[in-house]
Amino acid sequence: MDKDLGNYRKAYSKEQLLEANITDNPMELFQKWFYEVDTNFEVEETNAMTLSTIGLDGYPKSRVVLLKRYTYEGFIFYTNYNSEKGKAIEKNPNVCLSFFWHSAERQIIIKGKAEKIAENLSDGYFESRPRGSQLGAIVSKQSDVIPNRKYLEIKLSKLEESYKDKEILRPEFWGGYIVKPVEIEFWQGRPNRLHDRIRFLLQEDYNWKIDRLSP
Ligand SMILES: Cc1cc2nc3c(=O)[nH]c(=O)nc-3n(C[C@H](O)[C@H](O)[C@H](O)COP(=O)(O)O)c2cc1C
Repeated sequence: MDKDLGNYRKAYSKEQLLEANITDNPMELFQKWFYEVDTNFEVEETNAMTLSTIGLDGYPKSRVVLLKRYTYEGFIFYTNYNSEKGKAIEKNPNVCLSFFWHSAERQIIIKGKAEKIAENLSDGYFESRPRGSQLGAIVSKQSDVIPNRKYLEIKLSKLEESYKDKEILRPEFWGGYIVKPVEIEFWQGRPNRLHDRIRFLLQEDYNWKIDRLSP
């Protein structure tokens, strides 16, 4: 097969990212962009982000997860700690997160270190989830090979039966990670491929060094 996609070409012209409009702290710029994208542009699941880890096999692997909270400290998502990504993070906590908000012509790339959040925070979030999602988290040994779909459905209906009228507690293999950023790059598409790229690098004194990168 040989399909030429050379004619797929889009011009970017909606917004700009100038030094005059950035904040000293990248989390504040993240908050501003997130809010703008969420309110001014048609984006479904603004909080969907790509998480890349370095696997036990030495290959990078990326997959989408949902950002559930962010603070000055970092970006929080929830998952199964025994999943492929969980095992990868255990071995190498250096990860990359990225957002691509197509309709805003914006990309954000975050390098950082992932660590498990406090158990009581994971408990709190687990409690807030609908029962179906709580049971789903318990049923799924995420990333394991399973014989077929029926296997999961039977497991779920057995669990539903055994948890009838009972509180569902968070299993210890499921919880949140916070990715604490060391580098955040904001990319804004501009005409003629002269895109704006502003990179924040965390310094030893915890200040952020700000540079403009060539597109
Ligand atoms: C839009 C979207 C949101 C997702 N959100 C999550 C999430 O928040 N947590 C999660 O563990 N998996 C989420 N997934 C599934 C992951 O992409 C992935 O399939 C799963 O976590 C297993 O990854 P792993 O085997 O590499 O560990 C999401 C997938 C999509 C497409």
